[in-house]
Amino acid sequence: LQRTFSIIKPDATRRNLTGAINAKLEAAGLRIIAQKRIHLTLAQAQTFYGVHKDRPFFGELTEFMSSGPIVAQVLEAEDAVLKNREVMGATNPADAAPGTIRKEFALSIGENSIHGSDGPETAAQEIAYFFSGLELVG
Ligand code: GTP
Ligand code: MG
Repeated sequence: LQRTFSIIKPDATRRNLTGAINAKLEAAGLRIIAQKRIHLTLAQAQTFYGVHKDRPFFGELTEFMSSGPIVAQVLEAEDAVLKNREVMGATNPADAAPGTIRKEFALSIGENSIHGSDGPETAAQEIAYFFSGLELVG
């Protein structure tokens, strides 16, 4: 089984969509093996999204990600990274396929309700940033 890292973003926690998003993840066969609700500081959001630091939307992205509570999660399944990217849908909700989380819930390309790791190596790094081994209950 593979693991991936997921974040339910502030636009979704604000609208009380944590359960609705978790239901979609679980229906796709992803098991939530760790989960916590936290509020990132701006500095923590900048560290987490450091790979995007030269992109024009970096300021907007990190301010948004530190604007309210998030739910950080570890998801486990066969091909978890790909499975999660499929159920998330395209970054821009206007391009997302019907039935995906972003199609149903996202507000815009920035406020797009969910983050998912883009590969197994990134997933391992992101999981280690948020969780200790003891918190992963597979
Ligand atoms: P993540 O799972 O959040 O990493 O999304 P992604 O992999 O589909 O997209 P990407 O890694 O390219 O971008 C990371 C995040 O930056 C996106 O999820 C958006 O929230 C935000 N983002 C990307 N492009 C734009 C943009 O043009 N404008 C704004 N405001 N935000 C953007
Ligand atoms: Mg990404």
